[in-house]
Amino acid sequence: MLKQVLEQGREAADSALEKLLPPATQHPTSIHQAMRHSVFAGGKRLRPVLCMEAGRMVAQTLPAGIEDVGAALEMLHTYSLIHDDLPALDNDDLRRGRPTCHKAFGEAVAILAGDALQTQAYEVLAQLRCPAEARVAIIRELAHATGTVDGMIGGQVVDLEAEHKKPDLATLEYIHRSKTAALITASVVSGGMYAGANAEQIARLRAFGQGVGLAFQIVDDVLDLTQTSEQLGKTAGKDTAAEKTTYPSLFGIDESVRKADALVDQACAELNEFGSRASTLKDLARFLVERKK
Ligand code: IPE
Ligand code: IPE
Ligand code: MG
Ligand code: MG
Ligand code: MG
Repeated sequence: MLKQVLEQGREAADSALEKLLPPATQHPTSIHQAMRHSVFAGGKRLRPVLCMEAGRMVAQTLPAGIEDVGAALEMLHTYSLIHDDLPALDNDDLRRGRPTCHKAFGEAVAILAGDALQTQAYEVLAQLRCPAEARVAIIRELAHATGTVDGMIGGQVVDLEAEHKKPDLATLEYIHRSKTAALITASVVSGGMYAGANAEQIARLRAFGQGVGLAFQIVDDVLDLTQTSEQLGKTAGKDTAAEKTTYPSLFGIDESVRKADALVDQACAELNEFGSRASTLKDLARFLVERKK
């Protein structure tokens, strides 16, 4: 059942991305090839799946055109990965089982490919097939979630500034909530908005996303220590090498896993009001902490 949700969600996100990204033959080809290199490299597509399932839960059927919101989320996420891997940030050679964008296309094109995915995402969002008020609310939500105030960029800045320093819990939580949980929260919230959710439903989705998003990054930190580069499709052991502020560095692996589990339990309880309609999102939340890559 969940396997089917993940597979169908991935397919819907992939075909929307195929439709919405300029073809690799479009002039100037180098940038379009670079964007596609990173997007079509076997990402899990979890943000689009969370968005679509939040929309399905609220509307009781999959809202037509919601996969375009998913595609925009995936463009924003992939832009963040391309920039995260740059020599000036985490300096990684491997991503999604392929050479990173800057390894394959050079740093200049990789920087621009990240920028281009971001602008493309907003062009897509501006054309969403939902009421104008929801469209504007979604654009604002995603812009804020990827921005500097408690958003993705803010989290990335503090992540870099915390390298080689003694980890402390307040900084760690800020980093994880901002660099990762904010976009995961925006994924479920935007799905709800697209489906016409009311303010109370949005608040529940937001609380769910915040817990699941934090758990997601805790597990990312754990997998960096417990899996191989082949399994992850990205370089394992990088956080230790860079002396990153991570959950395992502060609490150890077992306690980190327990914290992620507890966060998911709490997050799922936020959806109880939705009754049995919430079962897919709850299953997805569980999957996110049990994942092996
Ligand atoms: C990796 O995200 C970066 C983080 C925010 C932890 P994912 O684990 O969702 O990566 P892909 O999209 O499947 O490659
Ligand atoms: C990255 O966190 C978060 C963003 C890209 C915003 P990490 O640096 O831990 O992600 P990975 O492990 O390289 O995927
Ligand atoms: Mg990083
Ligand atoms: Mg990284
Ligand atoms: Mg990581």
